[in-house]
Amino acid sequence: MLSLSRNGPDRKRWCPGPSIGPRRHDGASHGTTIMWTARVDGEMVAERARRVEISGIRKMFEAAPPNAVNLGLGEPDFDPPAAAIEALCDAVHQGMNHYGPSAGIPGLRDAIAERYRDRDPNVSRENVIVTGSGSEALMSAALALYDPGDEVLVPNPGFVLYASHARIAGATPVPYRLLPEHRFAPDLDELERLVTDRTRAIIVNSPSNPTGAILSRAAVDRLAAFADEHDLTIVSDEVYEEIVYDGPATSFWGKSDRVVIVNSFSKTLAMTGWRIGFLVASRPLAVELNKIHYHIMACPPTPTQVAVLAGLTAGDGATASMVREFKARRALVVRMLSKIPGLSLVPPAGAFYVFPRFSWPRTSLEVATELLQRGVITTPGDAFGSLGAGHLRLSFAASRPNLRRGIGILAEYATEMAAAEGR
Ligand SMILES: Cc1ncc(COP(=O)(O)O)c(C=O)c1O
Repeated sequence: MLSLSRNGPDRKRWCPGPSIGPRRHDGASHGTTIMWTARVDGEMVAERARRVEISGIRKMFEAAPPNAVNLGLGEPDFDPPAAAIEALCDAVHQGMNHYGPSAGIPGLRDAIAERYRDRDPNVSRENVIVTGSGSEALMSAALALYDPGDEVLVPNPGFVLYASHARIAGATPVPYRLLPEHRFAPDLDELERLVTDRTRAIIVNSPSNPTGAILSRAAVDRLAAFADEHDLTIVSDEVYEEIVYDGPATSFWGKSDRVVIVNSFSKTLAMTGWRIGFLVASRPLAVELNKIHYHIMACPPTPTQVAVLAGLTAGDGATASMVREFKARRALVVRMLSKIPGLSLVPPAGAFYVFPRFSWPRTSLEVATELLQRGVITTPGDAFGSLGAGHLRLSFAASRPNLRRGIGILAEYATEMAAAEGR
């Protein structure tokens, strides 16, 4: 229960809308930012907390019956590389259980920089901040880059954190469309229409969660030129960069002077629970990102960093063999889904999600809920933005038997829907 008062004791403060500084001038905008503290169930709660919600992905997961087939959560059903597990245990036993440098241990920063050197020979540890996950990297980027009143172009559909992080920073997320008929590629003409003198940044995500789409090299170049022309920072979420099926994904690093790369080891090394990611940025921006990152979590976990470094150094092909299995599952999933009446899909080129569209007279939440009752967890497409309505997201980070079972349930559901429509 929410109560909000402008004059009573509930009123705490407000933050003025337009950002301060010479960068912007008055003009068109997509919203203003006035923040109000208010009571929620008797507790004083800041506006930024009320502006965001628990992710729709989590809600489905938490409502699932026991033994449901989980095609909902986005995490590899593999273990981290053996060398990393061993190094983690050793690190803990050898007493590496203390704070480390805020930006990460030098060896890991160097190893990450090395991975970017083919894109840019000048990249070095000063460009790299090790974070406590890709999520934290995204939050640090949002808080370091966006001021209240700024606008941020975010993909629709897109990963759940982009719009909420913009809101938490007091900025306004401005969705840009990713349509299946354009294979989920952004439309430059639309971006030109959406950009205003308050637009601060554009978030891009290739390979994409939830669509699995990859931006072509030409699209990356065009987006970088667009960002340069409008003086925008590109925040490029590349956490699935190594999970690709039909060729590499083009990184934004080196494509523009103003790029922040968000990356993570969660997916590529199958360690979502270890919470380790990183940022790559220009040296001056890395200093600012590191300040925010320090104020969020002081430093990334020490034993995990040692373990990741060992995993990277061992280079045992764990990611490549996981990707081979995902590729086989992608073929299975695309084959099965393509036969289901009432569904259409763009085969994913990367990540481990497929984002079919359905034609049944139901909302995404209704379909996902009815599927949940039949024993398969999926994610309603509109958890990723308004243009996800009419879609479901299925994760194929699940075993082949579970994929067959889960998609089998979906096929039976589709048959029932077709029969009901025929009546
Ligand atoms: C596109 C994208 N970015 C970032 C993340 C965050 O990953 P993590 O916080 O586990 O590093 C995820 C997780 O699902 C994701 O799908």
